[in-house]
Amino acid sequence: MSTLRTPFVAGNWKMQKTRGEAEAYCDALAAGLDELDDDVDVAICPPFTALDVVAGALVPVGVGVYAQNAHQAASGAFTGEVSLAMIADAGATGVLLGHSERRQLFGETDDALTEKVPAAIAAGLAVILCVGESEAEREGGQTEERLTTQLTAALRDVDEAGLADLAVAYEPIWAIGTGRTATPELAQAAHAHLRGLLEERYGAVGHTVRLLYGGSVKADNAAELMAQPDVDGGLVGGASTQAEEFAAICRAAVRT
Ligand code: PGA
Repeated sequence: MSTLRTPFVAGNWKMQKTRGEAEAYCDALAAGLDELDDDVDVAICPPFTALDVVAGALVPVGVGVYAQNAHQAASGAFTGEVSLAMIADAGATGVLLGHSERRQLFGETDDALTEKVPAAIAAGLAVILCVGESEAEREGGQTEERLTTQLTAALRDVDEAGLADLAVAYEPIWAIGTGRTATPELAQAAHAHLRGLLEERYGAVGHTVRLLYGGSVKADNAAELMAQPDVDGGLVGGASTQAEEFAAICRAAVRT
């Protein structure tokens, strides 16, 4: 991991935890992170309904709180959607955009992300943008092409200044929730491709963007993944729902 970039670990709860469960988790996490200080940046992505509870408990101790999606419009007739301003109003500091479950199960498109990413930045929210290939795309030798398409679309209208609070999570779809983690070498190869695209487009500033690996990250594989030069942290699903396990992953990110 580069010393230029502070490690960043984010936990994505997905559709899990009531407000009461969230509150208990936050107490345990704050205790588990106690001695980490500025060595690692940490964020939690709770469901919309728990955003205010989690933000109230964790923002004061320096943990970021990200929604798992948002609509790009300021307001309007979009039943079931939540705007960026509403998320900020609930206390969120950021938003996760383009998660593969949104793309695969709910029709999230690259075109929508072209609008969502700059809208989130304009709303003052930090962004974790997710990209990643399917198993068929990897087997067909299309991984790099897929990552290029996704990253280029999402950043089309983002200028250099917009990168300040943006991280990119590489999440191979075949590794999400499957227990099949990418090897550190494979993760590094994909991250190096993303780094190259960012540097091509933004020059030296592209070097400052944190690239997170996601897909079956656990306390016992986090350190070797994050030891790779372009793996600057992790986006953790299943293993983030247990506060102690998630805190252990955050500690592993510091050690490397
Ligand atoms: P997982 O999920 O850690 O359970 O594989 C990762 C993600 O979907 O962000």
